[in-house]
Amino acid sequence: MKIAPSILSADFMNLKSDLQKVITAGADILHLDVMDGHFVPNLTFGTPIIKMIKDSFDIPLDVHLMVNNPLHHINFLTEIGVQYISFHQETVAHIHRYIQTIKDADIKAGIALNPSTPIDTIFPVLDFLDFVLIMSVNPGFGGQNFLPLAISKIEKLKKRAQKYNPEMVIEVDGGINDRNVIELVKAGASIIVAGSYIFKSGNYQKQINSLKLF
Ligand code: DX5
Ligand code: ZN
Repeated sequence: MKIAPSILSADFMNLKSDLQKVITAGADILHLDVMDGHFVPNLTFGTPIIKMIKDSFDIPLDVHLMVNNPLHHINFLTEIGVQYISFHQETVAHIHRYIQTIKDADIKAGIALNPSTPIDTIFPVLDFLDFVLIMSVNPGFGGQNFLPLAISKIEKLKKRAQKYNPEMVIEVDGGINDRNVIELVKAGASIIVAGSYIFKSGNYQKQINSLKLF
């Protein structure tokens, strides 16, 4: 399993040193939340900041696009060369086209699903995906409470993926801590995103270790 700290909860006045700290503490991936103020009410950062992070650190970058027009960002991100890109199923009508654009750039391509979006809606494209990002909070903000419905969605997805795409990875994001991580991993998630649980603590290493079950 891999731990992906969400930098949304990092110290933006000292971003470089804070990211270095979380990498030294054992982060496997950095999770970067791009928000446009339309698909979600909040705004974060865009591709210029992602490029600076990419140029400063040698760690896989996972970009979670919470935007109404993901293709615009996908085109910039393929130039920068991040390792993972996900966009929301709720925002696009042409999933194959966007996934193919990401894959053509040798980047792992994923679909993200809001808590209220049924898992079955991505079954038709399952064999085409590198990963699926299951949201366990409504996207837009860090520090929200975990929604347990994510667990049964992951179980259902895992079961289906074992048949149609056994290599596919399940990522989960939102409200994760050392207690609910156990159920999530048991259900089939192997990339765990955590923002406030890691960054709002004084000891990043202790928090990351408490999430790493194997
Ligand atoms: C929410 C973001 C998450 C968020 C997670 O829209 O996608 O990545 O930063 O933060 P926590 O772990 O605090 O819920
Ligand atoms: Zn996220």
